[in-house]
Amino acid sequence: MNTRLLTLLLTTLGLLTAQARERINFDRDWRFILADSVQMAQPGYDDAHWRQLDVPHDWAIEGDFSAGNPSGAGGGALPGGVGWYRKHLTLDKAPQDEVVCIEFDGVYMNSTVYVNGQKVGYRPYGYSSFEYDITSFLHQGDNVVAVRVDNSDQPNSRWYSGCGIYRHVWLTRMNPVHVKHWGTHVVTDMMKYIGYVDIAVEIEAPQGVKARVENVLLDRDGRVVARSKGLRSRMTVRRPYSWALDDPYVYNVRTDVKVGGKVVDSYVTPTAFRRFHFDAESGFWFNGSNIKLNGVCEHHDFGCLGAALSEDALHRKLVKLKAMGVNAIRTSHNPPAPELLAMCDTMGLIVMDESFDMWRRRKTQNDYARFFDEWHERDLTDLVLRDRNHPCILMWSIGNEVLEQWSSAEADTLTLEQANLILNAGHDASTLAKQGEMSVQALLTQHLADIVRRYDSSRPITAGCNEPSPRNHLFSSNALDIIGFNYHHEWIKDVPKNFPGKPFIMTESVSALQTRGYYMMPSDSIYKAPVEWWLPYTDPSFKCSAYDNMHASWSTTHETNWSVVKHTPYCGGQFIWTGFDYIGEPTPYGFPARSSYFGLIDLAGFPKDSYFMYQSEWTSKPMLHLFPHWNWLPGQTIDLWAYFNRADEVELFVNGKSMGVKRKTTTGSDSLCTEFHVGWRVQFEPGELKAVSRKNGQTVCEQTIRTAGAPHHIRLTVDYAGRDLTFINAEVVDKDGNRCPWADDQLFFTAEGGAEVVATDNGSQTSMERFTASERHAFFGRCMAVVRGKGRLKAHSYTLQPAEIAF
Ligand code: GAL
Repeated sequence: MNTRLLTLLLTTLGLLTAQARERINFDRDWRFILADSVQMAQPGYDDAHWRQLDVPHDWAIEGDFSAGNPSGAGGGALPGGVGWYRKHLTLDKAPQDEVVCIEFDGVYMNSTVYVNGQKVGYRPYGYSSFEYDITSFLHQGDNVVAVRVDNSDQPNSRWYSGCGIYRHVWLTRMNPVHVKHWGTHVVTDMMKYIGYVDIAVEIEAPQGVKARVENVLLDRDGRVVARSKGLRSRMTVRRPYSWALDDPYVYNVRTDVKVGGKVVDSYVTPTAFRRFHFDAESGFWFNGSNIKLNGVCEHHDFGCLGAALSEDALHRKLVKLKAMGVNAIRTSHNPPAPELLAMCDTMGLIVMDESFDMWRRRKTQNDYARFFDEWHERDLTDLVLRDRNHPCILMWSIGNEVLEQWSSAEADTLTLEQANLILNAGHDASTLAKQGEMSVQALLTQHLADIVRRYDSSRPITAGCNEPSPRNHLFSSNALDIIGFNYHHEWIKDVPKNFPGKPFIMTESVSALQTRGYYMMPSDSIYKAPVEWWLPYTDPSFKCSAYDNMHASWSTTHETNWSVVKHTPYCGGQFIWTGFDYIGEPTPYGFPARSSYFGLIDLAGFPKDSYFMYQSEWTSKPMLHLFPHWNWLPGQTIDLWAYFNRADEVELFVNGKSMGVKRKTTTGSDSLCTEFHVGWRVQFEPGELKAVSRKNGQTVCEQTIRTAGAPHHIRLTVDYAGRDLTFINAEVVDKDGNRCPWADDQLFFTAEGGAEVVATDNGSQTSMERFTASERHAFFGRCMAVVRGKGRLKAHSYTLQPAEIAF
């Protein structure tokens, strides 16, 4: 909404007689500059020459990669700095008899907000959402909201953070009598045929005003199904629908605040009925079924779009993960965008909501540890208050691999790259809790868990711990409801002995290393990179193997870990590191690698092969995935793998000749066949590969791969069509349409008919091309463009036939 429209709205809706709250999106028409002066807060400052843009915005993603950027390769090697945003708001009248608040869902980081030159607040943590009451700062005429964002002290993160007002901004106008910010707490319970909804409401009102509170429960179609009154009340519903993962039924509680019989505020809180618990012997139970958390960890960036929130990019991510069979997301390692939680509510994805990557002990030079003492209580409280009503959240995590697990830890003195590696290094037993000791670290754990429980006691608390010993100070505090291991699958067998009576999950797992399209053979050899965390790892390719045969020293292959999780009843599930590749942390390499190798889906959104291993295990739709491609040197020995489900065996044919029927096996009799895949070792000859999966002799699925000829033309397809953004895949193909798996042609994209190319990517971890550029080299035959608006996209190259697509 532009400023004029907003003014009109504020005026016509009546600043004087606010009936109920108006929450107005405040994203449009900000002015921005990457510079710093105290004068920029002043209303009269001349910002006419500043760039005009809409938020969410991330200035770092627009920059160039450089080894010299202080974020380091670990932070994505993109720029930081100090930026200012200003937005003008013209009011016909100063607010009267109403309250006006401005709410920021996330500003990375160190934001100071000014209204008309006066400071209204400061928040250092870049992932917290916050609101300021700016009523008294506003006046008739031109008003200026100015925000200073300081991300100059780097490194302050072990991954790419982004810079700027990277989430939505809202302006809320309310009657002075209203529900407090995040002022409802709705907890449900479900007995056989009855659902209970307990509602606590906090209201704000000028002294002496008598207000009444009434709640209604609305079903999915907006029908009232129950009512209650008062600040604390309970509703009952007969035969409520449950929030199932394949049909997540969400209700809404509407809270009306009345003064003298008139509604002065209405506030809507989503809620749902679901039952779950974690059991020390049988793992995770959800709505009466014993299932696994098949989760992934996700950072907040959207690849080439950076950290700037896009609902389309977020939804695309979740759709791809759900199609893999994922049922849970860990918001590693910080509060997520509120939209992620809203989508998980309606898509049926469970969330583990995490607060911090560090407490008092820092991991990088300038990270949140420097603010922890002063701000942790506020930030943790705000996280719980903001998020506690979301049905999707089933667990809180109070931290990830915090160094307080040990009495002493050296990370303070390390570089970012070293810190990322040492996190998983073994620690000396002398740094663990002594028998019966209630150490400072354990007390801090209790203190943080108490903060969470003060605002929500309906969900268990855990923490991602990479010290598996029960003498880990976090475990010894006894404050955690669920024991959460990061890695250390070989310790899982001892969990019942080490943590008697405690439920257990893998809060983080795997950390396999893969580059889409790159295969290191023999595929039955395991490549560790680095071999030990303190050793450097170099390889001129700057790539990792997309067979599931490469991982870091502390981690494991996907198959090894899944086998343990799958066959350990008391393990409630896992959160794989990670669903998507993310910018930063390019373990095992340094610059020019600048994004991660850990994802099951690359940064551009193309699934790597292991994605299909999980799909074969976690979904029931018949599938078969044969890989790699079939373009090699004559006579070269090639390992071919297949993931499949709902079938007993797969037969492979090379140019019509059978290479044998293979079955999954755990006997080790065939080094290319495991519990989760089958494989063949064959000599390459150009032509056609065909895999056929069969059950009881009947064909279930077939897949054919042909040797591609010379690159001939570009093929464009819509990968994901959102409301605002369309993601379009580009492939380099031969004259018959076979993808050329080695093609790296540079493609030039132009959008027409009102559309605009906003970013491009190809999933390469080392490409130095700008994310916002409209040209991109194909990487193993593919790249993609993100386009805003509707229209046509054209793709050209120097030698290939061009392509065009309408969307
Ligand atoms: C973990 C950490 C993650 C990431 C991962 C890489 O120790 O929690 O943030 O660094 O290692 O393997």
